[in-house]
Amino acid sequence: MSERERTTMEAVQSEAPAPDAEALVEVGDIDRLRPHARPLQERPIIDRSGRPLLSIEHVTQAIEGHSIFEDVSFEVWPGEIFGIMGMSGSGKTTLLRVLIGLDKPTEGHILFHGEDITELDEDGLNRVRRSMGMCFQYSALFDSMTVAENVAFSWRNRTDVTPDAKAARVAQLLDMVEMAGTEDRMPADLSGGMRKRVSIARALMEEPELVLYDEPSSGLDPVMSCNITGLIKKVSTDTGSTAVIVSHDVPNLLGICDRMLMLHDQRVQFLGTPDDMRASEIPIVYHFVHGLGTGEMTEHCSLQTGVGTDVG
Ligand SMILES: Nc1ncnc2c1ncn2[C@@H]1O[C@H](COP(=O)(O)OP(=O)(O)O)[C@@H](O)[C@H]1O
Ligand SMILES: [Mg+2]
Repeated sequence: MSERERTTMEAVQSEAPAPDAEALVEVGDIDRLRPHARPLQERPIIDRSGRPLLSIEHVTQAIEGHSIFEDVSFEVWPGEIFGIMGMSGSGKTTLLRVLIGLDKPTEGHILFHGEDITELDEDGLNRVRRSMGMCFQYSALFDSMTVAENVAFSWRNRTDVTPDAKAARVAQLLDMVEMAGTEDRMPADLSGGMRKRVSIARALMEEPELVLYDEPSSGLDPVMSCNITGLIKKVSTDTGSTAVIVSHDVPNLLGICDRMLMLHDQRVQFLGTPDDMRASEIPIVYHFVHGLGTGEMTEHCSLQTGVGTDVG
């Protein structure tokens, strides 16, 4: 992991708050450790009855005077799986960094539960980020730590949790990502897909309301990409969490997202459902969907991940 990735990891996977002066948390009580816990449920119906979970309002980002994107606006609703698509270099990762407050936008506002995070100081951002889990491109695991230590990274300094309770939480998450029993393995011994699964488990450690994935299928073969995107849908269902997925992997995103946007030429070129996107005649959208995302793999992923079951 590079120094920049490590710093980012530590900023995003900020430590849990100091515990109350209560008894040690033991195995049977691990749900108490999940500050944003909601009951496990079926695939949540997107909840548009209240406020959006995330509102991006006219956000512009320029780096060193160079415009990356301009006037980007969209909302993400609780329970939604939202995709951000675009070609390499279109600004997807930059947008993700802005969404979680790692970078401040040049203009515009980002509201999380209605609170403007562009106005927050570092303490405020750490508080908000505890409701967010981040799954980095290329997994960004710590190579010197075991799988269990990587997953439990945000709990590394907790003294209010018994080792058994921590182990139980890790086991629960590894089971969820279909990696049960791999606690003691080292990242170097894992395949790319397995590393990705571990990084998803790590992002879920604090039971975040919102999980952000940066290119979850990068570096994976098409079958593994399809498996990982299917897994993202499954964990979103299992945990009732909302997901924002950044990717250039069109067929897979079309298969799992409720809505998606496409960034190109510094602008949002498209915002809508997968069906709207497939039917779009906007030239760049058409090219992206039909030029890069056709063939057997699309069919295969469609069957596995339920293309067309749009609920947005
Ligand atoms: N820290 C930075 N300094 C300078 N330019 C940057 C920085 N981060 C991103 N960029 C530029 O912003 C553009 C978008 O990058 P990025 O968000 O990584 O795109 P994507 O994730 O869509 O591939 C690229 O042209 C990239 O070179
Ligand atoms: Mg990127």
